[in-house]
Amino acid sequence: MAAGLRFDGRVVLVTGAGGGLGRAYALAFAERGASVVVNDLGGDFKGFGKSSSAADKVVNEIRAKGGKAVPNYDSVEDGEKLVKTALEAFGRIDIVINNAGILRDRSFVRISDEDWDIIHRIHLRGSFLVTRAAWTHMKNQKFGRIIMTSSASGIYGNFGQANYSAAKLGLLGLANTIAIEGGKYNIHCNTIAPTAGSRMTQTIMSPDLIDAFKPEYVSPLVVWLCHESCAENGSLFEVGAGWIGKLRWERSLGAIVRKKNQPMTAEAVRDKWETVCDFDNASKPQTIQESIALLNDVLTQIESQGSISMNSTSSGSAVSSSVDTASVVGRELSTNVYTYTHLEPILYALGVGMSTKDPDHLKFLFEGSEEFCCLPTFGVIPAQTSIFHDVPSVPGLNIDFTRMLHGEQYLELYKPLPTSGQLTSVATVADILDKGSGAVLLVDVNTYWGKDLVCYNQFSLFFVGAGGFGGKRSSEKAKATANPPKRPPDAIMSDVTTADQAALYRMSGDWNPLHIDPSFASLGGFKKPILHGLCTFGFAARNVLKQFASNDVNRFKAIKVRFAKPVFPGQTLQTEMWKEGNRIHFQTKVQETGEIAIAGGYVDIVPGLDKPSVLEPVKTAGLQSDLVFEEIGRRVKEIGGELVKKVNAVFQWDITKDGKTAMQWTIDLKNGSGAVYQGPARKPADTTFTLSDEDFMDVVQQKTNPQKAFFSGKLKVKGNITLSQKLETILKDYAKL
Ligand code: NAI
Repeated sequence: MAAGLRFDGRVVLVTGAGGGLGRAYALAFAERGASVVVNDLGGDFKGFGKSSSAADKVVNEIRAKGGKAVPNYDSVEDGEKLVKTALEAFGRIDIVINNAGILRDRSFVRISDEDWDIIHRIHLRGSFLVTRAAWTHMKNQKFGRIIMTSSASGIYGNFGQANYSAAKLGLLGLANTIAIEGGKYNIHCNTIAPTAGSRMTQTIMSPDLIDAFKPEYVSPLVVWLCHESCAENGSLFEVGAGWIGKLRWERSLGAIVRKKNQPMTAEAVRDKWETVCDFDNASKPQTIQESIALLNDVLTQIESQGSISMNSTSSGSAVSSSVDTASVVGRELSTNVYTYTHLEPILYALGVGMSTKDPDHLKFLFEGSEEFCCLPTFGVIPAQTSIFHDVPSVPGLNIDFTRMLHGEQYLELYKPLPTSGQLTSVATVADILDKGSGAVLLVDVNTYWGKDLVCYNQFSLFFVGAGGFGGKRSSEKAKATANPPKRPPDAIMSDVTTADQAALYRMSGDWNPLHIDPSFASLGGFKKPILHGLCTFGFAARNVLKQFASNDVNRFKAIKVRFAKPVFPGQTLQTEMWKEGNRIHFQTKVQETGEIAIAGGYVDIVPGLDKPSVLEPVKTAGLQSDLVFEEIGRRVKEIGGELVKKVNAVFQWDITKDGKTAMQWTIDLKNGSGAVYQGPARKPADTTFTLSDEDFMDVVQQKTNPQKAFFSGKLKVKGNITLSQKLETILKDYAKL
């Protein structure tokens, strides 16, 4: 007798157990200690005739092996009688396997009333009657396992089986509801769609195939689903040939085809058809509540058309009940490393409307510029990646990323951002607020360059429909906006955004299709894709920087904004600014509509030039290059392993002063996890560079590049000259020492 999953003391009723799959189930349960009622009417596969021999044969087989079994010869249409046999013989009923079945295949129009009815009577009604007869017993004993037998013909349809397909999928509907009603009594009901060689399939399967699709390759699933330790309930499985797969429903995101106060038309349906049928990002609703919750959201979205602002991206459900904010506040989200070259700050500057037409902008657009630097608001870019990758789940609160609006933003800089390198951002949940119509998640992000904190962001994320959980409305941790003074602005600057502004801004890493894909935008209730809130923010900030800090990034301390209304690419942004001491209040309007897109904004600036400039040349008594090598040494200690993989070379440096070699340094990025030391290379150098201390500093500060220095004779190279190209990888991170 089989060990493992045992059924001792359990009573199993298998309908149609005189042959095929039913017989395999009966034998399997008996072998595992169950008492089995072997039911079979004993007719042919079309349901004609009857006989006791089919059931008797299987009962004898079980008994011969030492198992417990009794026969029952009734039709499943007499459900009560089947259960009565179980109760009389064994005193209880624990498990019902609804398996009996027949076929009356005909092409659709040739199906007679009788062929339709008998198929429904045996499969669907029979399963109902047998299960109902067992139900009260299962409920009272707080245990029951039920299997419904569906078919691929029902799930997918099959030529000539309209009657059978309908009944078989009807069984799935029956099981879905029984599973819900039975759950609390520990009555589980699952459905299988088997494929097996039997008398039912012998007309369509070759003998080889019948052998390959043994009923014994289906019965283990049924045994497991019926064991008391199996929690599965309300599920559907396809099974055959030794394979089992689970099925579920998938629903496209769909499209809203109705507008507020307008009739819904077939043409609108036609026009949205592709979106309706697009399964990208499809949802997988599991309950009727999940299914219907979406419709509530749809109504809300239609009602709020015209007033929906910002980044509402699509529909989903967001039901809040009891919320455990304590477990989430203070939680550190995953750390994100952002590696970038000079390309990213330049792309960002272009994204927020900088142009070579303005000579002031060159230092943000040209890496060769002596003053090349990052716009301060570039500081949101490394931080945002860390949030959008890891929005936390809050127990009881349905935080749905697709229902997120970017509400507010705060950014504070502690030093100008490096123009290339690696920034590490650590995000923490600062607080969770209940705003009624939604929940606000405050996320703090600290961004580091090495060990140095370079900037801090606070993202205020609004999740539509997730409010009303009885949480607090405000937080002392929230960075507040500030209203502008009640006087005409001290300065106004206008920018015309281009039709491709959002397309360009996306390149900085916010890939939300809302900003590029018209159908996605319309799903969110917008007539076309909208500009990123943080793009408008970048426009406004650079205007303040120019107007009140002479484009000196050292003087930009902090910025706060609230995103109030969407902006469409092509619209004109008008930034109104007021100076109040070191605080520049501002708001940004859409000139065409007069609507305020950014409200309550301010930038705090540092007066004059009292902040040490990172561009200041390093002054030392000895060689300036020593400090650079020491710094490179520190970095190689941290990330040498990575650099060794990338570079795989040993560089020796002969640094000259007044025409003589004053110092030798070696950067070994070939051996172990790398090393930087004074003196000639201890292992053979692949390349030796000779250049003066001053020229070396020019190279690291990117006033010139190694190639230029080489061609102008300032840099001499011995050994593998092509490796000098890799120098940039090593040096550019140290350009702003
Ligand atoms: P089968 O014909 O070998 O077994 C069905 C059994 O049900 C027979 O022994 C038959 O006498 C009995 N039966 C028929 N009407 C009855 C009634 N009114 N009361 C009591 N017993 C009755 O066929 P097979 O293949 O073992 O099928 C078992 C179940 O699996 C059926 O519900 C069938 O529709 C389903 N199925 C089978 C597939 C396969 O590939 N074999 C594919 C999809 C579904």
